[in-house]
Amino acid sequence: MTDHDPELIDCHSHILASVDDGPAAIDEAIEMLRIAVDDGIRLIVATPHADAQSDYGAFKRAHTRVVEAASELRIEIMLGAEILVSPSIPTLLVQGSLPTLNGSRFPLIEFDFSIAPPSVETILFDFQMAGLRPVIAHVERYAYVQRSPAIVREWPRRGAILQVNAGSLRGEFGVAAMDVAWELATSAWPVIVASDAHNRRQRSPRLRATYELVARRCGHDRAGALFESLPGAIVRNESIVGIGDPTVEPVDRGRRTNPRRWWHRVLGR
Ligand SMILES: [Fe+2]
Repeated sequence: MTDHDPELIDCHSHILASVDDGPAAIDEAIEMLRIAVDDGIRLIVATPHADAQSDYGAFKRAHTRVVEAASELRIEIMLGAEILVSPSIPTLLVQGSLPTLNGSRFPLIEFDFSIAPPSVETILFDFQMAGLRPVIAHVERYAYVQRSPAIVREWPRRGAILQVNAGSLRGEFGVAAMDVAWELATSAWPVIVASDAHNRRQRSPRLRATYELVARRCGHDRAGALFESLPGAIVRNESIVGIGDPTVEPVDRGRRTNPRRWWHRVLGR
């Protein structure tokens, strides 16, 4: 624990019961929320996997159920979705057929893990034209980003916010994902960190230890932007201009060619 006690906000989690590969039953969902509360998370957005065919009504019912079951817990539970991108998604969001993050102009979207969308920039332009600013889920986990991390630099220029999994910063998704995740955390780009929790075991809703790691390297200002102020502005649908200014220089190219980077040493990898 440090003298700064952040109000952690988790914008990517699978905590609704029986709607995707998250908890199978409401009891496990509540256990996950207890873990989040104990970790210092004060606001969590439920983001079930979704696509163009998803039933928004089923998400709303599952959200209502978990909010009621968790009424004793000190945590706010909002609704969103993690939406697999296809050409019709911007229109479906504007029509209100799919959820953004808490009804904001910021939807959480994901791409296929192994195959790059034919034209990411065209897709992002379509979102821009619809008045939306997509948050791109776990950018560090895509194989094509790991091969060529520089491609993500174009995405914020098209209005996107980059989301990194806390587990990637801890090395839980492999060295390639960890390298990209730390490069983004230490960059000047609009980045948020989230748990992408799926269960109460290995992929649980915990952020605090990773916040401390980032704060040690980047300072509390940058860590606060990644875990608190930028996610908070997103769920409140506020302007994000000026949030996320870096307190350290982005990782230089020399470090990128060094197989034993500083975070490998910190994490013992
Ligand atoms: Fe997810």
